[in-house]
This record gives sequence, structure tokens and C-alpha cells, in this order.
Amino acid sequence: MTDQIPLSLPDITDDEVRAVVSTLRSGRLCLGPRAEEFERLVARRTRRMHAIAVSSGTSALHLALAVLGIGPGDEVITPAFSFVASANCILYVGAKPVFVDCDPRSLNMRAEDVERKITDRTKAIIGVEVFGNPAGMPELAALSNRYEIPLIEDACEGLGGRIGSDPVGSFGRLACFGFYPNKAVTSAEGGMIVTNDGRLADLCRSMRNHGRPGSAESPDTTSGLGTWLQHERLGFNFRMSELHAALGVAQMRRIDELIEARQWVAEAYQRRLLGTADLIVPTLEPESFMSWFVYVVRLSDRFTVEDRDEIIAGLRRHDVGAAAYFPPIPLLPHFREAGGYDEDDFPVASSISHRTIALPFFTRLTEREVGLVCQTLELMMTRATFSRS
Ligand SMILES: Cc1ncc(COP(=O)(O)O)c(C=O)c1O
Repeated sequence: MTDQIPLSLPDITDDEVRAVVSTLRSGRLCLGPRAEEFERLVARRTRRMHAIAVSSGTSALHLALAVLGIGPGDEVITPAFSFVASANCILYVGAKPVFVDCDPRSLNMRAEDVERKITDRTKAIIGVEVFGNPAGMPELAALSNRYEIPLIEDACEGLGGRIGSDPVGSFGRLACFGFYPNKAVTSAEGGMIVTNDGRLADLCRSMRNHGRPGSAESPDTTSGLGTWLQHERLGFNFRMSELHAALGVAQMRRIDELIEARQWVAEAYQRRLLGTADLIVPTLEPESFMSWFVYVVRLSDRFTVEDRDEIIAGLRRHDVGAAAYFPPIPLLPHFREAGGYDEDDFPVASSISHRTIALPFFTRLTEREVGLVCQTLELMMTRATFSRS
């Protein structure tokens, strides 16, 4: 069954189509001017000196840990409540993830909880703006400075957000973005690292491109092979293609319009759901601004995980996209086996993950569709309540 109101839908106009087609015709498909332009636009937006385009948000996180030299024997502190990539990247480099439970309001890690987990082996902290909410990032940045442990900001869900005038992406020593199609800005697949540290930026450029010198150009555009077969260190192929970058540039040029549309949809949901009994809607600190990655509501603790799953199934039966965001990362099989974790180790993340429902969220959702989604949700909540009694 296809959802008639999908969970997510990218906002693609003729500008994006033209940008990708003209790139295809240009003959330059990798390491070219579109990726450089995409990097300039993201660097400017996040007020960072350097931006390095890569193939995904996950490769941005992997690269961030690699350029910091993190490896076996090291510990990296990371949230229990996030998308799995924020912790998988730690396993990729052979280090140990140390999980921290979340704050029940913002869903982000609290600096005091992170501080309790710091040991001599802690080599980095990965702070995530969960669902794009930047709450707590300045406190994590201050902690990172105090202990001289680098903060990697996993900003994959938050491009365009800010606290006061400080943009998401400006808090970590390195910050990572992802541009999967459900994000506010998409390049279909893609990611970006931003930083003010020139040495780390050069390393990122080299290591995303098989360890070639940072300035290495594609052989199809130079006479002879140039530095193409020089490999100064172990690297990866984490490059972003020019086709993806062209799409990203076209989206970045419309970022304010895209965020405004998401803001409008979020406000339509808030207006409709704010007073609904047994439903917790997202809340933001007054000084925070979000670009709205998703719209996730939570059921009160009168509802069990079975009720929640039944409500999601009911929404889908009525052609309304819905999903449970996220299972706690330490309870996923590959972490659970290694760490021997159970739900009691992360009570807040466990309780919240039993009660979240992500509702359809994209720029073109209409007021009527928002009304229909909310009406169906309320109906399914009532049915779940009755089927229990
Ligand atoms: C918090 C977070 N980190 C990392 C990623 C990974 O990004 P990608 O899917 O581009 O690899 C995502 C993707 O949704 C994410 O939400």
C-alpha cells in the first residue's frame, strides 16, 4: 500500500532539474565547481571557514573521527537517543561508544550527564541536534573546551537552525551535515563537514579522496595524471559527485524559502495539536530556531509501546505515513550484544522511544492534509484507549 500522505517528500522545482541536467551536459561529473559552490554556501550559512563535501552524513561523521585520529582503545561519548549513524561511526574506527541518556524535554544529551561519563580514554564527544533542536549545544561546546576533548557536532538534522545568532554547525570543532531527501536541504545523497580548523579541513579533503593531496584534481581535467596517483595517507572514497552537488546548490539557494515552508507546516500542526489530551508536541527554548527536520509527537505514558504501534498501523491503514523515531541505539542488536545493555540503562530514551510518532512532514503539506492527519491520529488514539478498557 502506498501512503497517500507520505511521511516525507523532497521539494524539487525546475531549478533543481535544470541544474542537474546542465551538470550532466558539462562533462565534469566529479571534483568540480558545483561541489566547491555547495561548500561555499554551507560554510557561509554556518559561518565556518572551511566546508568539505562528502558522500553522506555518515561518511562525514566517519571522516570527522578519522581526522581526529580516534581509534582502538579510545572512547567516544554519544547519545543513546539518535539515528544509528551517530554511534556506528565510532565502531567504524574501532573505538568504544559510551552512551548517554537524553533530556526528556529537548531529547538531546545534557552536559552534566556527559561530564559524568568522561574518563582518561575519552577522545571525542558527538553531540546531536536531535530532530534539529539545538538545545544544549553551547553547554556541550563549553564542556568540550573545559576538558579539551573535541566536540563533533552531528548536525545532520539541523541545517538552518540556530540558538540566538549562533547557527547549527558552529558549535563543534567539526560539524557534520547530511542531505538525504528527508532533510530540509537535499542533494539526494550527500554530506558536508564544516570547521574553522585549517589542518583538519586539509586532512578531510585528502582523506575523502583516497589520501591524495588535498588539491588533487580529477585526471579528466588536467594534462596527464598530475597528483592523481599520489596517496599520502590511508583514505576513503567519500567524494560527492557534481550531480549531487548541483542539486545541493540549487536547494541552498532556496534554503530560506524551504525553511519558511517547513515552519508553516510545523505551526499548522502545533495549532491543531497543542491542546490534544495525552499528546506531547515538540517544544523549543525561546532563543532557539529550528529548520524542522521532522514533526514528531509523543504519547503520554498512559499509552504502551503496543498502543503506539497499533496507532501507527492504524494511521498507515488510513493512508497516512507514520513512523516510530528512534529505537534507543544501545538496544540495537550490534550494540546490545557488545555492551550487554538493557532498557533500564537508558530509562528516558527507552520510555520516549516507545511513545514517539513521526507524522507526515514536508514543505507542500496543505492545511487540509494536516487536519486530516491530526483527525486520524486522534481517532486512532481513542481506539487504542478503548481497545484496552
Ligand atoms: C542524526 C543523524 N546523523 C547521521 C545521519 C546519517 O546521514 P546519512 O543518511 O546522510 O548518511 C542522519 C541521517 O538521517 C541523522 O539523522
